[in-house]
Amino acid sequence: MVVEGRGARRLRAGMVGAGMIFDETYAPFFENAAREGLFDRSVGPFDVTLAGIASRTGQRAERYRRSGRFGDFGVWSGPHAVQQMLAEPVDTVLIATPDDRHFAAAKAALEAGKHVLIEKPSVLSLQELDTLLALAAEKRVLAKVVYHKLWDPDHKKLRTLVADGLLRHVNNGYCSLLEPKQISGQQFAEWIQGRNPGTYVAVHYIKLIDFTFGGKLTAVTCTGQRGLVGPADGPTWDSTQLRLVYRYDSGREAAFDIHTSWVTPDNFPGYVEQEVQFRFDNGVWNAHSRKRGVECTIEGRTPGEIKITMNNHYNAEFLEPNGTRCRRGYGIEVIERFFREVAFVEWGGPPQERDERLQQMRALAYNDLAADRQVVAAVHAMEAILARAAAGVPHCVVEVNGAKGGLVLHEPAGKSHVLYEPAV
Ligand SMILES: NC(=O)c1ccc[n+]([C@@H]2O[C@H](COP(=O)([O-])OP(=O)(O)OC[C@H]3O[C@@H](n4cnc5c(N)ncnc54)[C@H](O)[C@@H]3O)[C@@H](O)[C@H]2O)c1
Repeated sequence: MVVEGRGARRLRAGMVGAGMIFDETYAPFFENAAREGLFDRSVGPFDVTLAGIASRTGQRAERYRRSGRFGDFGVWSGPHAVQQMLAEPVDTVLIATPDDRHFAAAKAALEAGKHVLIEKPSVLSLQELDTLLALAAEKRVLAKVVYHKLWDPDHKKLRTLVADGLLRHVNNGYCSLLEPKQISGQQFAEWIQGRNPGTYVAVHYIKLIDFTFGGKLTAVTCTGQRGLVGPADGPTWDSTQLRLVYRYDSGREAAFDIHTSWVTPDNFPGYVEQEVQFRFDNGVWNAHSRKRGVECTIEGRTPGEIKITMNNHYNAEFLEPNGTRCRRGYGIEVIERFFREVAFVEWGGPPQERDERLQQMRALAYNDLAADRQVVAAVHAMEAILARAAAGVPHCVVEVNGAKGGLVLHEPAGKSHVLYEPAV
């Protein structure tokens, strides 16, 4: 059957990076899109195709290309891969490189006038964020970031209870995310020097807290441990403990502790173990990845090849009741939403109203870079605190929007460094 109009409208995506997250969420998204296309009432049917992948070595991208899973596409590798890809006809650029390599690719893509989607954390400093926001405004394109945990049904329920006033005023809470050793030892070995698990995964919870509870970030502290991934006095961190303090319009405060690690034993049943607890004036929210429902053991297959604790909501392969097979979940849905937003901007009404549609999509705080300021501020502060600790000055505190500037690092001995002068 030929679907009328199908193929007339097409968004061509350029991918930067083809690692673990590409495999888990982008690849199934492109497979689904190639098979089923997309439909939006304001746009009609439209296609999303993978135009090409720019990555460091191109090896994995080449394997995907040869598999034919989502059609043919270009592969570029080496130091000029992104620029080479941008010379081809692409409409959107998706960035899934290591976190300290997001900015350069995002800047190049925005300069070329492409809509951009960046994996979390968007960027590592407020200066970088300002540069990308200015470019997106100048080029009249979308600049968005992926925080798929906001689409987790459990987190949506939490936010709904808060928004509806059933859970009242959060006072404090903790979040913990423990990654297995193989992440730091094998998967990320190429880029892990000088990095930390806080920027990599605490950022999921920074965003969850920021987006769900609102408020103004006022202070950031962070401690951490070293000695497994790198030397005990080096700049590479095994685990981190981040604390954020927020103030609300009521004048009351809340504090959140976020603990992360990427050196948990590989055979730990939780695999990626996640736990949160938020305490309110009138309630407590507890969530634990191993208590979500499913634990499955298969001799010889779990916990290595198949996980004991399955998150079937994030991204899982299913044999559907109607006999078809697919991979679906909120990790894939969040990517599809970006393409719907781009399609709406480009085709969701008359061309002369494109700017209004662009503003509408920019107003979506869950993924727009403009709404990522406090999250980037927290990451910027954490990076600076860990860098000072690695340089021999532990226990620094970053004050947000204080007397000396937007983001100011205070050392225990009294010296201060302005990390970002304007208000956050
Ligand atoms: N949304 C999530 O929950 C989630 C989960 C995992 C990772 N991530 C994010 O996705 C990003 C990538 O993580 P990953 O797990 O896929 O990492 P990875 O190490 O598995 O893959 C990184 C990819 O980037 C490519 N790359 C590295 N440097 C590059 C450069 N300068 N130019 C072009 N390509 C380059 C590598 O070739 C590789 O294909 C990170 O920002 C990470 O925080 C998000």
